[in-house]
Amino acid sequence: MSRSAHPAGPRHADVLTEGHYSAPPADLNALDPKVWARTVSRDEDGVLTVGGRTVTGLAEEFGTPAYILDEADFRARARAWRTAFGTDADVFYAGKAFLSRAVVRWLDEEGLNLDVCSGGELATALSAGMDPERIAFHGNNKSVEEITRAVEAGVGRIVLDSFQEIVRVAHIAQELGKRQKAQIRITVGVEAHTHEFIATAHEDQKFGIPLAGGQAAEAVRRALTLDGLELIGIHSHIGSQIFDMSGFEVAAHRVVGLLKDIRDEHGVELPEIDLGGGLGIAYTSADDPREPHEIAKALTEIVTRECEAARLRVPRISVEPGRAIVGPTAFTLYEVGTVKPLESLRTYVSVDGGMSDNIRTALYDAEYSVALVSRTSDAEPMLTRVVGKHCESGDIVVKDAFLPADLAPGDLIAVPATGAYCRSMASNYNHVLRPPVVAVGDGEARVIVRRETEEDLLRLDVG
Ligand code: LLP
Repeated sequence: MSRSAHPAGPRHADVLTEGHYSAPPADLNALDPKVWARTVSRDEDGVLTVGGRTVTGLAEEFGTPAYILDEADFRARARAWRTAFGTDADVFYAGKAFLSRAVVRWLDEEGLNLDVCSGGELATALSAGMDPERIAFHGNNKSVEEITRAVEAGVGRIVLDSFQEIVRVAHIAQELGKRQKAQIRITVGVEAHTHEFIATAHEDQKFGIPLAGGQAAEAVRRALTLDGLELIGIHSHIGSQIFDMSGFEVAAHRVVGLLKDIRDEHGVELPEIDLGGGLGIAYTSADDPREPHEIAKALTEIVTRECEAARLRVPRISVEPGRAIVGPTAFTLYEVGTVKPLESLRTYVSVDGGMSDNIRTALYDAEYSVALVSRTSDAEPMLTRVVGKHCESGDIVVKDAFLPADLAPGDLIAVPATGAYCRSMASNYNHVLRPPVVAVGDGEARVIVRRETEEDLLRLDVG
């Protein structure tokens, strides 16, 4: 390997105030299977391969930046969730994490249902031929047009998010001569993120109807009187990137408590509860996510225990994982451009994308890993910040990362675990074109969402 085309940046941990990379990893060429898609490895030349394709070949064929998605891994993760929950429960993939028609077909084939939260997601699902009965429609401000389309299409459930929406959906369904199956989304007073959960003040948010003060009970009372609705259950979603099951425990306890109150007041045992999504994935080696079978076991046990204590029939459980299915299955492939060492600080490595293809670092201070993937290197570790090409200093892709000191323009680097909330939150900032999503498997590569073109941009600009 050629050494140090660029001077190494500082390698001392003392310039880092936060982040996982307090010290360089022992082997910069190693690929931690926790953060990379399952078929990823290096070939004899040190080039990263996925689904039987080299990243150098993929870059040549499809250009960079590009999201590279491991189809076998996606299907395996979807199947693992399905199998873990068995036939007495339902798994709704949360389409907001990443949705395309190919993904809808894979989900369909693997026996998963789908959660959509806008007319656009619903249109994608329907156009890919998803059985509407297997679609759940979410959103805190569904328009009349969206509700009408969902009811007409025959979606399996609408998740009601406000008192106004209860009346609106019931009215639209009745006008269409239908009785719409629905759940009511409640806020249980728990908000969970990563390793922690808090149990105060999180009812102060736009989603759901608070359990507190009897509001959720009142919503149920109203829904049960409306002919246009068939109330089938209660929904709760407590947060994102959760590793600790105790937040779900409190949520299940409170949802089951409401089911018990409903039974006592109305003599009705609602048949379903949905505990939402939010299960965490590994973005860096420091994260330790749980396997679907552990999550399924924990959630089923919690609900069963709570129902037995309340003498309720155990309802059918559903969950809505998005990130946990698609997140780990893709990485973003970038070409290195400018490499700028800043004396006694770090080296800034610019890539040909940035905050337009991954807003999560700027928006949530999210942590990512990164690796040189077009070759291996035995150069020293160099402390870097991987940044994009946008006109904004917050345009950071990976805040603190070690890359080999001989990194040079033209090298390919990849950021793993970008399958969720990267393409789906991508923008055209600076009129940068959104990258394609390329699905790979068995030595084949196929574009499932094509790269945006300047023509696409200009078509929207009507002059
Ligand atoms: N169900 C409901 C009702 C939700 O609101 C969400 C996510 C999910 C399921 C799926 O959650 P997941 O399993 O994917 O964590 N843009 C943020 C995440 C926002 C999640 C919003 N709701 C991010 O990039 O981290």
